Amino acid sequence: MKTTKKLAVFASGTGSNFIAIQEAIEQGTLDATIALVVSDVPTSAVIEKAKKKGLKTFVFNPQSYSDKEAFETEIVEALSEAKVDWVILAGYMRLVGPTLLSAYEGKIVNIHPSLLPSFKGLDAIGQAFDAGVKITGVTIHFVDEGMDTGRIIAQEAVTVKNSSTRVALQKDIQAVEHRLYPETINYLLQQ
Ligand code: GRF
Repeated sequence: MKTTKKLAVFASGTGSNFIAIQEAIEQGTLDATIALVVSDVPTSAVIEKAKKKGLKTFVFNPQSYSDKEAFETEIVEALSEAKVDWVILAGYMRLVGPTLLSAYEGKIVNIHPSLLPSFKGLDAIGQAFDAGVKITGVTIHFVDEGMDTGRIIAQEAVTVKNSSTRVALQKDIQAVEHRLYPETINYLLQQ
């Protein structure tokens, strides 16, 4: 029997990938539902967007907790209450700790705006631009305890045009992200 899987999307910022995933669900190209949107930034635009879509949110302020284990314990409770099957990181600007990793082993994925293992960490688009590479891209990978180190699931190259600016490159990369992430999640859910 086919069952529609439940996703939690974790994000700290704008939420354009969250919107791309939600729109793919609405358009029927991604068979899933977003059961929870999680953010560590109470004022983030992604939370506004999630509320507009009528989705359930879990917002927390890391500074109100003694450590990562304390807030991840609450996150895992919220995920389990919402019966979440997969955790989708989309601009969640934190390393995932052992509490969440062990609760969702093999079920946490991330999107990174470079061709890993190049340009790990913050501002991957700026790093690639400054390095003067002619090709960069997008990587979707499983999440482990490292920063952008988990097993790669999908990659797509993006050419850096000679006339490109940092802003234009970001736009080109995001256009790929918004198509590749929903497609890849759909593929993963069907395995
Ligand atoms: C994306 O570029 C993603 O690759 C990175 O964080 C950014 C999030 O952007 N991990 P948005 O909030 O989805 O617009």
